[in-house]
Amino acid sequence: MQTAHNIDDLRRIARRRLPRIFFDYVDGGANAEVTLAANEADFSAIRLRQHVLRDVSARDLSTEFLGQRHALPLMLGPLGFLGMLARKGEVAAAKAAGAAGIPCCVSAFSICPIDEVAHSAPHTVVYSQLYVLRDRTMTEALIARAEAAGAEALFLTVDTATTPARERDARNGFRNLTRPTIGQWLNMLSRPAWCRAMIADGMPEVGHARAAGFGRGVMEQAGNLSRQIDPSLSWADVDWLRRRWPRKLVIKGIMEAEDAQRAIEAGADGIVVSNHGGRQLDHAASTIKALPAVADAVAGRIDVIVDGGFRRGAHVVAALALGASAVSLGRPQAWGVAAGGEAGVARAIGLIAAELDATLTLMGLTSVDELRAWGREALYAL
Ligand code: FNR
Repeated sequence: MQTAHNIDDLRRIARRRLPRIFFDYVDGGANAEVTLAANEADFSAIRLRQHVLRDVSARDLSTEFLGQRHALPLMLGPLGFLGMLARKGEVAAAKAAGAAGIPCCVSAFSICPIDEVAHSAPHTVVYSQLYVLRDRTMTEALIARAEAAGAEALFLTVDTATTPARERDARNGFRNLTRPTIGQWLNMLSRPAWCRAMIADGMPEVGHARAAGFGRGVMEQAGNLSRQIDPSLSWADVDWLRRRWPRKLVIKGIMEAEDAQRAIEAGADGIVVSNHGGRQLDHAASTIKALPAVADAVAGRIDVIVDGGFRRGAHVVAALALGASAVSLGRPQAWGVAAGGEAGVARAIGLIAAELDATLTLMGLTSVDELRAWGREALYAL
């Protein structure tokens, strides 16, 4: 793998290795991509306090969330199609997470199914992401599969009642890849190493869809699975899920204090403050802007994980100071997978961890837990 000094370098390597159709699928967002841009841009308003002449020679980056201590205040978030970016992309990500001592959440749209991921990365804490499907029997089967695979938490994603236009995908004909045009074939064949990786284990399929008889081939299966996502989902379904699922339950896609309060009442163990990486509601607030009010409403009763635009150690520091328990990495993981499989994801985690360590040290802090205890004292007021 080529050298990457920061997450943007990994993104550039990924761009060279992936066909444009798949690079854009990862990189793009909804509509005008206002929220996509805001997620990253709003970090530039953060200013950190710098305390000096404290002994910062011994440092501890570990912290607790979702009932366990992890080596870093990070997790890998659920990303569909990781296995379309590199061979066994989901397994690569899970192995890198385990080696770094952080959990990994497997998407409902993963190519490798959760059981294979859990089996191939036995030292990794694995979570499972769920979309509630129109067919509840099928949903039950997905939950049972996650439970049997040993998933320690279920992440219920709730911000996908419809799929907005992702204009880069529309332009590239991403959803029509079931029958590629000549242009699309040329696009894919321009990356022969990627093509070889994609057919190395036979034609790729969506792990969950294969079992459910959702058609053949990854694009047809993904389309059919997407159409199954139930827009009638409501708090009553969360109650149902809470009764059904015995382990940690996390609701992903909470942006408002009121909804966070409802999540606590519904018995959730955690929430993810998320706008789906700017891929759903365009013009939603950036997550770093939404986080403080949500964290205030939660007041430490459950874990608040946050995602969206996190590319730097200083971004993680800001989130922890504003009340998050941990940060979930989205695209950095995908770029890592595309750039170098397990080593690429390890690099993504390592880069952010090293920056986090240096940032804390220069702020005069010795641990992530100390930062969490300081809270907003660690920042200048926004
Ligand atoms: C996602 N995300 C996502 N979320 C989810 O709950 N289920 C899924 O299958 C997917 N799939 C997915 C694919 C790709 C390519 C991306 C980029 C994102 C959203 C993801 O979990 C997370 O919320 C965002 O990626 C966080 O923002 P950043 O870190 O990518 O900026």
